[in-house]
Amino acid sequence: MQKSSENFLVIGHRGARGHAPENTLLAIERGIALGAHAVEFDVQLHPSGALLLLHDLTLQRTTNGRGALRGCSYETLRALDAGEGEKIPTLDEALELIAQRVIVNVELKTSEGTAAAVAAVLRRFIGKGWPAQRFLVSSFDLPELRQFKRIAPEIPVGALLGGVPLDLAACATELEAVSLNISAEFLDAQLIADAKARGLKIYVYTVNESTEIAALRALGIDGVFTDFPDRAVAI
Ligand code: G3P
Ligand code: MG
Repeated sequence: MQKSSENFLVIGHRGARGHAPENTLLAIERGIALGAHAVEFDVQLHPSGALLLLHDLTLQRTTNGRGALRGCSYETLRALDAGEGEKIPTLDEALELIAQRVIVNVELKTSEGTAAAVAAVLRRFIGKGWPAQRFLVSSFDLPELRQFKRIAPEIPVGALLGGVPLDLAACATELEAVSLNISAEFLDAQLIADAKARGLKIYVYTVNESTEIAALRALGIDGVFTDFPDRAVAI
């Protein structure tokens, strides 16, 4: 991972979810405009083979559709409104828009082939001149993330945790990860110390209050995922 000039990575969460409909091109562009050093978005593999940016497995919270993503045709999904007239973007569209301006954290939300499909797309962009270090691939699904690392060892991965494992940060070392992406709800001194001892970056999600962002920075955390990149950049 490249370091930001301030050595504290501001990662726009789902683009910049506090400012625009999450996981849309508008949110990504807004995140970059607000000064984020990186943008994170969630990617799912649709049965058609398309890689689509959506957080939930169902459509109703973030679009005007209903039911499961995988239960709808690609054409139907692409006709939906994901907020403010935005479409559900493809991974290709997101990367074309970003055009290497910031680091890209692709979070794999599905398994069963998602790793291979995402690796193929990222490699295509690397072939067009993107440095591999411009990407960070993460997932709560650590077996799928391991599969990704096996397919594309040149692309950095981050172990994404929703809690504190019994063996602390050991999974990240096993995955050859560069970072541990941990929940602010489970900040644990032992986990942080173990991650640091292993040479891992520590990125914390999802932190929206300026005072909390400042406190994490003072703790020696390496970056935050935030819906409001402007707040983190201002610190
Ligand atoms: O990758 C950090 C964060 O996005 C993980 O949680 O549920 O917002 O995808 P979630
Ligand atoms: Mg996410």
